[in-house]
Amino acid sequence: MNETPSGLQCPASDWFKAPSGNERTWIGLAVLWCIVLSLMMPYWHFRGKQNTDGLAYKVKPADFVKRVESFVKANTGQESLVEEGVSPVVPAPPGDVYLLAKQFFWFPTLKLRAGETYRLHLSSADFQHGFSLQPMNMNFQIVPGYDHVLTITPQAPGTYPIVCNEFCGIGHQNMVGKIIVE
Ligand code: CUA
Repeated sequence: MNETPSGLQCPASDWFKAPSGNERTWIGLAVLWCIVLSLMMPYWHFRGKQNTDGLAYKVKPADFVKRVESFVKANTGQESLVEEGVSPVVPAPPGDVYLLAKQFFWFPTLKLRAGETYRLHLSSADFQHGFSLQPMNMNFQIVPGYDHVLTITPQAPGTYPIVCNEFCGIGHQNMVGKIIVE
């Protein structure tokens, strides 16, 4: 051992010993597990049911708001603006349905039929919001300027709350909507 002026002792130059025995086994298991977990990422992309196909179109927020309003009018006959709220919209399946995120609400309330397939268009009129459908914990980022399209087939009747899980301002915690399935 060499004594330095600081009093610290340097290890001998041949301090390194290659791992052996149990140490070798554990390093091997850890590396193997890293490889397994890394492979699970692409595997779940194709086999897991939680991933979308990433379909999105560019859209100006104001244009998306207009689409939502004409969707509501076409399905309810009501001339409601986004701010005013409206009774649940019951679109005829299969087809395109629209849901707008805005400080601090989801518009409109959708009433969908179990077993039918819809193309759900999601976008934001202002900031980034988080679409979190309960209780199945389905989560999706909603970014203004993009029309995100999710192909969904509701499985069981019920009322499914939508909460915003992306902090979007002072009323974020009140940003709750719902999808009704019958
Ligand atoms: Cu919208 Cu938080």
